[in-house]
Amino acid sequence: MKVITSISDMQESVDAELRLNHTIGFVPTMGYLHEGHLSLVDQAKKENDFVVVSLFVNPLQFGPNEDFDQYPRDFNRDRKVAEDAGVDVLFCPQAVEMYPRTPVVSVSVDQRTNVLCGQSRPGHFNGVATVLTKLFHIVVPNRVYFGRKDAQQAAVIEGMVEDFNFRLDIVTCPTVRETDGVALSSRNIHLSQTEREEARNLYQSLQYGERFYNAGETNVQQLQTKVLEFLEKNIHEGVIDYVDVLSYPDLTKKQTCTGDMIIAIAVQYKKARLIDNIILIGK
Ligand code: PAJ
Repeated sequence: MKVITSISDMQESVDAELRLNHTIGFVPTMGYLHEGHLSLVDQAKKENDFVVVSLFVNPLQFGPNEDFDQYPRDFNRDRKVAEDAGVDVLFCPQAVEMYPRTPVVSVSVDQRTNVLCGQSRPGHFNGVATVLTKLFHIVVPNRVYFGRKDAQQAAVIEGMVEDFNFRLDIVTCPTVRETDGVALSSRNIHLSQTEREEARNLYQSLQYGERFYNAGETNVQQLQTKVLEFLEKNIHEGVIDYVDVLSYPDLTKKQTCTGDMIIAIAVQYKKARLIDNIILIGK
């Protein structure tokens, strides 16, 4: 596996693959790799000749009071994990390489962001869209892999790829979970033992909501109330940030479930904000 830190070296490596008519699969990450990230790598390896993983904790997508400094980092471990997973290139630029000066242009997301994390984290998705625009231009992938755990992120980037005519396909992969249902996240390391135990209630609340949907409940307010009640009963260590039921992927409010819907939740613990969601397939 090659470890590349400069944009020009990354472009050279990509050019060599393109000359061989190889397809490129790309998995953008912020590192502290876990099985969730690796499921994306596995899928990328199945579908492409060459797999690039980026490891970049993108300062643009963190708000002033968020956890940029505390975001977990362990480069040596990530390098080994990526190498063992069969990644071809680990692209890990420094912030000055990606942002050598104040950007003249950045990407501003207009839709799908006035709800969920977009509402709780102003500017977050502009930062995500801006860094991914740069990474897509540098890596020139055929396919880019995203986890459904960050469903709003996938919905925003799918929209951006369509709007800006990027010549690549977005592939979304299922959320990988611990045996008790907790979605894998780099941030889970910051949970105390009691918080970690309590965190299983996030997925359970989503399954609780899904059961009502499967039993025929299509009233959005009813579903939202059920999930919220479950969380209020079972979350004591954390603060519920949001519970919402929206259409997917356009993330608009509906009164009645029509087409695919998403139940999405966020809980703020002392040092980690956890998000999770479940997609309700339209009947
Ligand atoms: P990061 O949080 O490192 O996640 C990288 C990718 O891994 C995302 O597509 C995310 O949805 C996916 N992922 C995380 N946990 C997962 C899980 N439990 N199961 C399946 N997939 C999972 O998301 C980002 O980084 C950044 O915003 C980024 C896209 C890299 C832009 O900076």
